[in-house]
Amino acid sequence: MKKKKRLVVLASGEGSNFEAIALAAAHAEIAAEVVGLLCNRAGAPVLERATRLGIAAHLVDPNHYLRDGKPDREAYESALLERLTALRPDLICLAGYMRIIGDEILEKFGDRMLNIHPSLLPKYRGLNALKQALDAGEKKAGCTVHWVIPAVDAGPIVLQRELPILDNDTEASLRDRLRPLEHATYIEALKKLL
Ligand code: GRF
Repeated sequence: MKKKKRLVVLASGEGSNFEAIALAAAHAEIAAEVVGLLCNRAGAPVLERATRLGIAAHLVDPNHYLRDGKPDREAYESALLERLTALRPDLICLAGYMRIIGDEILEKFGDRMLNIHPSLLPKYRGLNALKQALDAGEKKAGCTVHWVIPAVDAGPIVLQRELPILDNDTEASLRDRLRPLEHATYIEALKKLL
């Protein structure tokens, strides 16, 4: 049997994608072990999920890295890089990580970093992708797993899945229907890559 790849997830919020990936690994659906969760937001529900699933959760809080009372992005990125390096990841999954990855981290790990975005890229990059699609009157939405490059949500696409937008859809209803599709898409993408 092939050696399991070491997978690290970065997340900031709810963590439903993190949990789906962690469960797929635990059930050997993907040939990977989730060796750690890195989170930048104290109190984020994803931290509790990691604890419940027995996965080491590391909080690297930007508020702890200040210079003259202001956020010191470089110091935060160095701390994150240090944590990431210590976890020796073969693959890094961004799953609702709400910060832009800095150059230093990309230089070291840019060849192995994936993200999931809730739109049919290249449409609707950045924040509020669902609202952007609804406002534009789109008839379909979807999600995309892609490699991370310096430009946000612009890296090569690994896998994309779509779903219809219904006449009475709101951002919330669309999000609820999209989440399970995101989970399945991330896992399918990982299967394809691992
Ligand atoms: C997902 O919509 C993902 O596409 C986006 O952030 C959200 C994370 O959701 N990048 P969750 O925290 O995994 O539930």
